[in-house]
Amino acid sequence: MLKIVRSCRVPVLVLAALASTALARPVAAQTSLQPANWDSGMTLRLPEDLNPDPRILEINMEARLAEVEVEPGLRVKAWTYDGGLPGPLIRAKVGDRLIVHFTNRLQEPTTIHWHGVRVPIEMDGVPGISQDEVKQGESFTYDFELRDAGLYWYHPHVMSAAQVGFGLYGALQVDDPDDGVGVADSLTLVLSDIGFDKRGDLEPADSGGPAGMVFGREGQHVLVNGRRKPVLTVRSGAPQRWRIVNTAKSRFFLIDMDGQPITTIGTDGGLQERPTTEGTVLVTSGERVDVIVTPTGTPGSTLIVRAMLYNRGYGSVQYRDVEELFTIKFTNEPTLPKKPLPTIARTLTPVPAAGATRVPVVLTLPPQGPDGKSEFRVNGVPFWEAKPFLAKLGEVQLWEINNDTDWDHPFHLHGFFFMALDEKDQPIRPMAWKDTINIPMKTKARILIDFNERPGEWMFHCHILDHAEGGLMGTVQVGPPSGKSHTHRTGGE
Ligand code: C2O
Ligand code: CU
Repeated sequence: MLKIVRSCRVPVLVLAALASTALARPVAAQTSLQPANWDSGMTLRLPEDLNPDPRILEINMEARLAEVEVEPGLRVKAWTYDGGLPGPLIRAKVGDRLIVHFTNRLQEPTTIHWHGVRVPIEMDGVPGISQDEVKQGESFTYDFELRDAGLYWYHPHVMSAAQVGFGLYGALQVDDPDDGVGVADSLTLVLSDIGFDKRGDLEPADSGGPAGMVFGREGQHVLVNGRRKPVLTVRSGAPQRWRIVNTAKSRFFLIDMDGQPITTIGTDGGLQERPTTEGTVLVTSGERVDVIVTPTGTPGSTLIVRAMLYNRGYGSVQYRDVEELFTIKFTNEPTLPKKPLPTIARTLTPVPAAGATRVPVVLTLPPQGPDGKSEFRVNGVPFWEAKPFLAKLGEVQLWEINNDTDWDHPFHLHGFFFMALDEKDQPIRPMAWKDTINIPMKTKARILIDFNERPGEWMFHCHILDHAEGGLMGTVQVGPPSGKSHTHRTGGE
């Protein structure tokens, strides 16, 4: 049992300071063990920094249509940030300020939501709650501090199943130079998928009707950093750090490197308590993982990194194949001898669960009505009929989420990290800060949230974005309502 009493809670800033000193440990300067241009088949574009201040990253970004080549000769007319798929890799250091001058050159309204980032509510990108939609030709400036190291991502919050599926997403990486990980060779991997026909025209967002919504539409082309089956050239036995984000609107990735060990060191909100090593790692829609791998093979041979079958509901294993993600091509140099990795650990301090307000959350999918319509419900109602959940500023809540449907739901909360608890109210080990947690079909999850700051109306939803639009969405009003009238019931999700 956690024996910390409420009155002993340390202010967040102090905790953050403690956490970063706990992380700081001397790390020998790391030099790359990989050949030159080892990752040139899958590097992400970086935006141009317009601000001379080293602690401010200031960029311009445009949403616009562009024809993108995902494989030599295979082109799609995608919706893009700055003309590429995915959008630029926004990369800064923890504590930096990010300013994004965003312009919408699409015909539809849009916004940018900063998935997982503890932004002020006005920067959260939800139309009708935090800002107005950015219409064609209009601009909006996002400006906030990057308080937490970790891998995050950005995407629209207007017609999001359509817009994310059409290509609007990118990674936001917040580095902590003192994280002690000590692996010189690192990659950021944006996993996604996209559906289009022979002419390069996007598959309509409503394909398959209600059944498509219930399944969660997947594009037939799986992409790694916007490319189909790219190649990485590596030295056998050299450790690499992969920061992975799943930006697909529905697809899950169960990553396998031919059974070679994958060590997870972090998830959504940065490093976890301690590493765990397994043969595969699952990244559900919206989630991130931070892993260390040491691909090993005969010099000159290849190794395929795959997405294995994972059952997230009917149709996800029955009619699917294992997907090739990318190829690792070993150089002709001999395999490097194994070296132990540095001890990677982080002290995480959850708030005590004792005294938390219990909030039951039940997810259901009633049988199709006579009109053929299907809708997901949260506590008996779809989003368009829902009233906000309520939380007082400073209230700790324990959400007991019961997934009573035959589908998995990666449950995402805006604006706050949470921690998953077991049946006895104890944090699930190793502890990790999450903003998206998969709740497998017919199971329950329990998450502890400290609504300690930033009053406002924050969204939660399934990150299978078809499910979100199919009703599996809601908001929690933290602190008193602003009195602003809400128009999001009809528009944004
Ligand atoms: Cu990636 Cu509403 O979220
Ligand atoms: Cu779902």
